[in-house]
Amino acid sequence: MLLKDLLNGWMQKSFLTAYPELDVSGVLVFATSNAEFGDYQCNNAMALAKELRKAPRMISQGVVDVIELPDYVEKVEVAGPGFINIYVKTDWLSDYILDISKDEKFKTPQLGEGKTVILDYSSPNVAKPMHIGHIRSTIIGNALDRLHRFVGYDVIADNHIGDWGTQFGIIIMGYKNFLDEKALEENPIEELERLYVKSYGKTKDDEEWLNQCRAELVKLQNGDEENLAMWKKFVALSLSEFDRVYKRLDIEFDQMRGESYYNPMLKDVLGLMDEKGITSISEGATVVEFPEEEKLPLCIVRKTDGASNYATTDIATVKTRVEEFHPEKIIYVTDERQQLHFKQFFRICEMIGIEADLVHVWFGLMRLPEATFSTREGNVIKLEKLLDEAESRTYDIVKTNSSMSEEAMREVAKVVGIGAVKYADLSQNPQSLVTFTWEKALALDGNSGPYLQYAYARIASVLDKYAEAYPENNLDDFELNLESPVERALAMKLARFSDAVCLATATYKPNVIADYIYELSQMYSTFYQTLPFLKAEDGVRESRLKLCRIVASVLKAGLKLLGIGTLDRI
Ligand code: ARG
Repeated sequence: MLLKDLLNGWMQKSFLTAYPELDVSGVLVFATSNAEFGDYQCNNAMALAKELRKAPRMISQGVVDVIELPDYVEKVEVAGPGFINIYVKTDWLSDYILDISKDEKFKTPQLGEGKTVILDYSSPNVAKPMHIGHIRSTIIGNALDRLHRFVGYDVIADNHIGDWGTQFGIIIMGYKNFLDEKALEENPIEELERLYVKSYGKTKDDEEWLNQCRAELVKLQNGDEENLAMWKKFVALSLSEFDRVYKRLDIEFDQMRGESYYNPMLKDVLGLMDEKGITSISEGATVVEFPEEEKLPLCIVRKTDGASNYATTDIATVKTRVEEFHPEKIIYVTDERQQLHFKQFFRICEMIGIEADLVHVWFGLMRLPEATFSTREGNVIKLEKLLDEAESRTYDIVKTNSSMSEEAMREVAKVVGIGAVKYADLSQNPQSLVTFTWEKALALDGNSGPYLQYAYARIASVLDKYAEAYPENNLDDFELNLESPVERALAMKLARFSDAVCLATATYKPNVIADYIYELSQMYSTFYQTLPFLKAEDGVRESRLKLCRIVASVLKAGLKLLGIGTLDRI
């Protein structure tokens, strides 16, 4: 059982012994951030003062008077206005972390066991440039994917590609009028993007052009052979580019059902909405209106020209997913600008009786200062170029500091460069406004991906040095003694890894893991700087290296949850 659960159960029992009439289900302990106040603290007495008609300190004292200390608790104290401070036994703690470190998942509770979650993320649009929102969706979505798998969910990662919609009218017009055959052969995606951007630009001030784009779209939707063939070509070209990027990012989807997949289901879904009596006609379009007190604007589900739209497709998608996979939850990851869309279609699903827990995880758009990307145009930066730049900048840094072989340097540039981009994104609260800079992303001495990868490599090298110096020793044969407060604090931090995983998963915030591993690596640094390792006396040395080894494995696991790789040498 996990330490925190043990403590919660024991505290509840103790409150019950002292106050038999009390509902103790809300009695919980919290990790302290300062060891002076013990390892965990219970502050329920404060909230119970009214109910029990007693001062909080007296309430806590009443609990402490009857408390029986289990074998893992050293002592308890009443402190401050009425906290109960709990001190865990150090010997017990060392056995505990040895025990959890034997488990690949560090005994993280398998909260998702037997449950399916569908994660809808990345979802770029065909023949349209991926913008910063898609990049963040890809990186954040993948971290949530890894977190959910880690706590035991059956995850279906579904890339809901935008392969159907108004952009195809625009791109078809661009293709028919401005195609540069040679450019298409040499770099198909760039050429498609150029055609899209050029044609899109024209729709802004040329009404006739806009109408022609619409007409091409209708032709496509009605199955016109020429347009359909063009569409297939665009989809294939885009998918092959997306795949290349996903490979570089070490991201795999379980399915890639684009919007077009749901085309055949749209009619039924519209029928169902009519049947449930929730649709009405407004200015020629079919719309769903919501009760006034919900303050949601009406949602168009069929346009004046009869075509379905983004909302209709999403409703059909939910219906299909629920019927086919019976998920406990469907999680969508997009930028903040789509909040209204999700609120509306989630509500419509409810109105037509589709039962599913639907969650929209939104994030702010990361700011990109003008000078950040050499390849930037407007809000559009190309993910591939961004990754190239990350790798080449890292390569330059490595080259000036390293004597590695060319091949090894390239490998470091790849793992560290890509890791830096991912970490710069994932270390922020997704919903706060952040600015990306290369200085911060690639910093070797701050809260960055490279810093953590470097911390990992340093531990790996200490372990290597030990193995070289004492080839006959096996660390498993030695004891772990948490002698100094620094070692003990580090061990306590390790004991809390699974708490961070559960919290990050439950709140959809990968930055909880980033914070955790950053703090862990800082504590390790203190440990490393204040205590002798290889020069320590026999037994003490081995104990410290054992602790190192656990830190390394937790660091590696934490980075892996963020989709970031580790190297033994940097
Ligand atoms: N393709 C959409 C866009 O680029 C994102 C799709 C998100 N997923 C969904 N089921 N709506 O804006």
